[in-house]
Amino acid sequence: MMDVVKINSFRETLEKLYWMETKLELLRETMASFKIHNEQYQEVLTKISNDSSKHRELLENIINDLEGIDLFWLRNKAGHMEAGFDFNGLSEEEIMMDILDEEHKALKYYKKVHDETDKEFIEEIWKGDDSTRFFEQISFLIDEEDKHIGWLQSLQVTVKQFS
Ligand SMILES: [Fe+2]
Repeated sequence: MMDVVKINSFRETLEKLYWMETKLELLRETMASFKIHNEQYQEVLTKISNDSSKHRELLENIINDLEGIDLFWLRNKAGHMEAGFDFNGLSEEEIMMDILDEEHKALKYYKKVHDETDKEFIEEIWKGDDSTRFFEQISFLIDEEDKHIGWLQSLQVTVKQFS
């Protein structure tokens, strides 16, 4: 028997990640309406957007291999959420800080999924033959978000100061 509470919180975290990747993927379009003039910023945002598109696809593949998570439902839900970032009234630096913030959150959630999900639980709901693939793919995504954070930090983008 599948643990309902476990599958629900697991599903919620994957849902958040799916939404984050979709939002980051949409940066390409968001950038068109919020003109970014700094060329280095443009370059990094385009790279992050392209990667996030691949990450969303990878998440879809992972989800397809999991019992009890409905991709159609997830896509539908993401589609109904507010589309993309709202950068209204922000400077270019503040926009970059928002992206860095989002990357830190994504990293945190991927790590949570990787470190706090029971291997037995995944084995139980994994439809493919090798359930260790799940953890390998999540590890890859952790490295990817780490890489994005590194790119932003090399542009001197800093974490938002909350007062
Ligand atoms: Fe990502």
